[in-house]
Amino acid sequence: MRRKFIAGNWKMYKTMPEAIELVSELKRLLAMVRNVDVAVVPPALFVEPVAKRLAESNIGVGVQNIHDGGFGAFTGEISASMLPGLGIKYAVVAHSERRQYFGETDEGANRKVRALLDNGIIPILCIGETLAQREAGETFSVLAKQMAGGLKDLTAGQVAGMVLAYEPVWAIGTGVTAQPEQVAEVHSWLRNWLADRFDAGSAEQVIIQYGGSVKPSNAGELMRVPNVDGALVGGASLDAASFVAIVKSCV
Ligand code: PGA
Repeated sequence: MRRKFIAGNWKMYKTMPEAIELVSELKRLLAMVRNVDVAVVPPALFVEPVAKRLAESNIGVGVQNIHDGGFGAFTGEISASMLPGLGIKYAVVAHSERRQYFGETDEGANRKVRALLDNGIIPILCIGETLAQREAGETFSVLAKQMAGGLKDLTAGQVAGMVLAYEPVWAIGTGVTAQPEQVAEVHSWLRNWLADRFDAGSAEQVIIQYGGSVKPSNAGELMRVPNVDGALVGGASLDAASFVAIVKSCV
């Protein structure tokens, strides 16, 4: 049985004092929640103090992006090789904002996924179509390309331990949430794609999150959709009460 996994992607928001205050509140409010996996994904600068504040809590910590290499002369970058030992469990890969504004490709995403797996960090690989692609009937060809590229050369065992986040680009930060029927259709298609490409047992283990304007008012309905194993939450994760309400919608 897959446990639900709710992750809060803070993007480029919060100051250090605000970050510490938010996770202190989350630690207190979620202390009794045991049957849902929860993580926060702060800006890289705050990851270490946040991880220290969350030590011995039931809340994991992730990073929003990494460089695809190991060590090297790449001013300003951080890599998967630097993450072990810092209390970091997850890393988001190829978020649509990275694809859109920073030119991330499926090939780059694949290098990042492999670097993370080599370093014992769980990748949260983001995929999703734009509105124009959906309207042109290209949703599944876009997703197939992103999946084939991002998961290239991985073993079934590696993929089984990963998280996928289906985030339709038109639903991110727009207030427009995909309808449960649309989410159901895509998530079951993704599960079948994984079973065909790898094997059914491994496909069953992959956590497939939905992301895009998840909020307390729609989380309960979305989390009951078959093959939805959790959520990648942006805006609603910046406030303790709304993030906690989303987590509790899974309980
Ligand atoms: P949103 O962002 O919840 O603000 O739409 C989701 C995401 O970018 O992961």
